Amino acid sequence: MPEIAYVNGVFGPIAEARVSIEDRGFQFGDGIYEVLFSYDGHLFMPDEHLVRLRNSAAALNLPYDFDADPVLPIIEEGLSRSGFADALVYIQITRGVTPRSHCYPSGMTPTVVMTFKQRPALSEELLSRGASVMTTTDDRWSRCYVKAITLLPNVLAKTNAAHLGFDDAIFVTESGEARECTSANLYIVNDGTVQFPPRNQSVLHGITQLVVLDCAKRIGAPTVEAAIRTDDLARADEVFMSSTAVEVLGITSIDGVPVASGAVGPITRRLHEAFLAAVKSGCPSESA
Ligand SMILES: Cc1ncc(COP(=O)(O)O)c(C=O)c1O
Repeated sequence: MPEIAYVNGVFGPIAEARVSIEDRGFQFGDGIYEVLFSYDGHLFMPDEHLVRLRNSAAALNLPYDFDADPVLPIIEEGLSRSGFADALVYIQITRGVTPRSHCYPSGMTPTVVMTFKQRPALSEELLSRGASVMTTTDDRWSRCYVKAITLLPNVLAKTNAAHLGFDDAIFVTESGEARECTSANLYIVNDGTVQFPPRNQSVLHGITQLVVLDCAKRIGAPTVEAAIRTDDLARADEVFMSSTAVEVLGITSIDGVPVASGAVGPITRRLHEAFLAAVKSGCPSESA
């Protein structure tokens, strides 16, 4: 199966895909993105991902015309050309090409890039032992709900965590609020209740999180949207994360200290099973 790229209307091998060095995505990180999985030939939650893409564009005044040039048919064509039933689809839209200047001109033509690859298998070993994470200062900007390609704080935090032997890092504000992992949403569980930080401007509004919250309803676990403090993390019965890439993944140690017994907790396991059932049925509500 070929991994393929799409650049402004043209499909081809990834190694041959090109964008200008004067693209603002390259020069300023001035763009937005989405990552979608397909399972067994079916895109998972495409409408939700595309609504978020549209919202990200609107937040940055990025003038892509989603009505005139809908993105979904391009994704579908890419999937069919690549032939991957279990695909990882990466979509990036930048403001486009113009001589370098902080101030962008009006009327730019956005650059649209996509890649279609085999969806990587999740590590069974990681799933069963759970992730070990460290906490790190949240030094990101105040609009983390925008899925912008400008990801340096996330990149540096994740790489630092890996160098120190951790699987990931949790961003914590100076006032002690835990926000999310470097590329996943964060949850704690206490007495069977699932708590997650407010879906405000400080976190990415995860699509997987929508499914997880629906799964919580289905397994009868109450949910509460409330700030998580570092002491809450330390005292929680269970901690876990969710994202397109890791689905539902237990966090079993934080800064070298085990979470509760140090094993993936029962609610996390049940939510992961419910998530997999939702994936099988194509969307969360169908599997209720
Ligand atoms: C910072 C951050 N939070 C949360 C998520 C989870 O989002 P989703 O479930 O839509 O993949 C991601 C995914 O990339 C992310 O980068």
